[in-house]
Amino acid sequence: RLLAQGALTWFSAWRGDALARTLRAPWRDNPYPLYAQLRAQGPLVRSKLGALACTTHELCDSVLRDRRFGVRTSDGSYGDPSAAAVDLQLSLLEMDPPDHSRLRKLAAPGFRPRRLERYRQRIEDVAHDLLDRAVERGEFDLVRDFASPLPIRVICELLGLPQLDAERLAHHGTVLGGALDGIRSVRHLRQMRESFAELDALFERLIEERRAQPGEDVVSDLVAALEEGELTSTELVHLCDLLLVAGFETTVNLIGNGTLALLRHPQQWDLLRDDPTLAAAVVEETLRWDPPVQMTMRIAHEPVELAGRRLRTDTPVLVLLAAAGRDPAVHPDPERFDITRPDRGEHLAFSSGIHYCLGAPLARLEAEIAFRALATRLPDLRRAGAAVRRPTSVIHGLTSLPVTTGRTL
Ligand code: HEM
Repeated sequence: RLLAQGALTWFSAWRGDALARTLRAPWRDNPYPLYAQLRAQGPLVRSKLGALACTTHELCDSVLRDRRFGVRTSDGSYGDPSAAAVDLQLSLLEMDPPDHSRLRKLAAPGFRPRRLERYRQRIEDVAHDLLDRAVERGEFDLVRDFASPLPIRVICELLGLPQLDAERLAHHGTVLGGALDGIRSVRHLRQMRESFAELDALFERLIEERRAQPGEDVVSDLVAALEEGELTSTELVHLCDLLLVAGFETTVNLIGNGTLALLRHPQQWDLLRDDPTLAAAVVEETLRWDPPVQMTMRIAHEPVELAGRRLRTDTPVLVLLAAAGRDPAVHPDPERFDITRPDRGEHLAFSSGIHYCLGAPLARLEAEIAFRALATRLPDLRRAGAAVRRPTSVIHGLTSLPVTTGRTL
């Protein structure tokens, strides 16, 4: 229990939990008015709980690109020693250069847009297969029956995993993604350990199989690098854990948040239905307007002057990615959800700098296919019940969105 308590304190201080706590209900469901309030106070504000937070696009972007900031403290740890109680295994996300650069270079080729193109047809098949089943029922849960199983199936294929139990994987995703908010309880800590143990065992087996019989998947590429001594087997397992969980835990929320936004703005849904090529614009507008990852954290590696404040070495700074998406300096009329924005500015939903999301091209491809499939197959899609929000603040999304199909094509 003491260890769990220690871990809780650590997360509060280092993983953005300080602000995340302020973001408990009612802010958690709709944090955007709070972001606007914070931005009105300046680009860098201190929250009541002590954390410094960047509120504008310009400052968020510059901190993420600034090599004087990293993700580890100067003693090389990823925060307080009690973090060891959790044995966080976030791989690239918790690494600074040079280890980060070395591992990222090894994982990157598998996620390049050209390589992903070969999965386009497969993703479309999976999307339509899931909708076929949903349509038979007339009413279904958009998250449980579509937004969640689609990216799980895709990332499993990409990593060369046999079809795994999608619900079990969704559970691991919720447990591990939820940890970015802080560990909620001793039970949550236990679940995290179980999830990591299960995933590690899964990948250890897969790595052995790929050693014996290489395939054309991402894990086979990484096993080849392992044989060349370019990474250790522990690094490989942790990297695979990250690729798997990051591969679906966020995309499910992009599809869920985007569909909810469209159904709440029926004119926008009509625009998409009449012109399904707008699906890519739905993806970008959702990433700006209601992004799945709301914030991240950086730590000053040396004394830094930032927006008129002097930060000491090891000062943590929250980077409010979602606040940047509503910054009027970059996005005119930012509160409006509009898939036809002529003046679409850059968003930071995939972060920026050296940790820029490795899976961004995959997430974009999957979500575009998902929105296009929904609009073409279910033109009369409507909500059939209340959407249920995830009880987390860093990862922002839905656990349930009941819908009804009406006319189907
Ligand atoms: C990193 C968001 C989908 C893999 C990140 C970061 C963000 C993010 C914000 C950087 C965090 C930071 O700067 O501290 C998202 C969103 C997604 C998505 C919003 C979906 C809509 C994916 C997918 C994959 C993936 C499909 C596929 C495997 C990764 C990896 C990193 C990462 C490996 C670590 C990169 C590094 O540290 O160098 N993602 N992600 N993500 N993402 Fe994604």
